[in-house]
Amino acid sequence: MSNNADFLDSAAELAATIDPHLTSPNPRVGCVIVRNGKIIAEGVHEKFGGAHAEANTFRMLQDSNPRNLGFESNLEVYITLEPCDHFEGKKTPSCTDLLLRQKPKKIVVGALDPQFQGKNLERLQKAGINVEFQKNKKCEELNSFFEKYITQKLPYVTFKMAQSLDGKVVRDQDSYPQGYESKYISNEFSRQKVHEMRAQYSAVLTTTKTILADDPLLNCRINPPSLAKRELEGDLNPPDSHKRESFPLFPFGFAQGRQRGRKTSDPQIIVLGKKEDIPPSAKIFSIPHRKIHWFDSRDLREIFSQCAEKGIDSILTECGPTLAGELLTQQLVDQMDLFVAPEIFGRGMASFSRSIDLSDFSLNRQEHLEGDVWLRFLRKK
Ligand SMILES: NC(=O)c1ccc[n+]([C@@H]2O[C@H](COP(=O)([O-])OP(=O)(O)OC[C@H]3O[C@@H](n4cnc5c(N)ncnc54)[C@H](OP(=O)(O)O)[C@@H]3O)[C@@H](O)[C@H]2O)c1
Repeated sequence: MSNNADFLDSAAELAATIDPHLTSPNPRVGCVIVRNGKIIAEGVHEKFGGAHAEANTFRMLQDSNPRNLGFESNLEVYITLEPCDHFEGKKTPSCTDLLLRQKPKKIVVGALDPQFQGKNLERLQKAGINVEFQKNKKCEELNSFFEKYITQKLPYVTFKMAQSLDGKVVRDQDSYPQGYESKYISNEFSRQKVHEMRAQYSAVLTTTKTILADDPLLNCRINPPSLAKRELEGDLNPPDSHKRESFPLFPFGFAQGRQRGRKTSDPQIIVLGKKEDIPPSAKIFSIPHRKIHWFDSRDLREIFSQCAEKGIDSILTECGPTLAGELLTQQLVDQMDLFVAPEIFGRGMASFSRSIDLSDFSLNRQEHLEGDVWLRFLRKK
């Protein structure tokens, strides 16, 4: 029989199928309802302003099996995040109130909401419900953007870079192998990951220097796998089906969720430097209605604070060694994603413009991408 952690993991995996920009500035939340050791309903918060995960899950339970509602006292509810309660400006009803009405036998929560810090769990407990807070890594990692944005009023910043094995980010022109045409350092599998990341973040940050050197488009040129996978699979056969009774997943139009959120998967662009330095033919101008924010200032902390005021909760950097060095020295980076190609460039531009102490970071994941190695480091808490 599955245990608490298994069910919380299932709820977190569901929530992870939603790109953060769809719920932003709200958190991503998943919920599963369990009876007799099997999941009988599940739901996610699909988009900002839409029903919350708990409401969607109870609605699914009701719609799929109205006769069983008499057995409600038998239910266990697993939620990735502490349920919400009323506060000013809130668009949806309180999930804590919903749970108080439903009175399940047990509620297990995988992460606390920094806005409530466990208060709502106490309320549920006082009403006689068996409530467990079981800190869960997958649940916590769902909402790194939200956590920083809410607690520090700053966007979560990820520094991304492709480099050679000997730490170079730009190949020396004379060292190109004969017949070599690609301007890229990393391979197509690494670049696929970068497109997936662009779909997740509110904005990418670049500089006029990098635009002039590379003329990047900085958009998302893939159908993000979470959505694509589900659309292709059609029946959405989950890998852990032993944990579930059979029922259709996402009956409430999950696939349309994306369309109702940000219009495309393309992030907004933040450029450091002067707009007049960039020719109108640059590719970043080629996508109509795309938001581009220009900052001709050196105060990075102030720039990030202004970005947060514009509702940008997460930034992926796409810049060269000079700005990279500055961001890291000023401790403005929360996460580093390095794509390392198995090549020695010898001469070329080094990844960092200066010697940098990275001991505040620890390895979070590593993956081989058909030759390249993808390394993710997180700032230690
Ligand atoms: N491998 C990769 O992943 C990757 C990714 C992106 C770019 N690149 C490469 O990196 C190269 C460009 O690197 P780069 O180091 O010359 O440029 P950069 O790091 O992209 O940009 C540096 C410029 O940003 C401006 N800036 C604005 N605010 C700043 C601040 N607070 N601190 C520092 N700089 C600030 C400055 O311009 P002003 O001096 O004009 O004020 C500075 O020269 C390109 O060749 C590009 O191909 C590689």
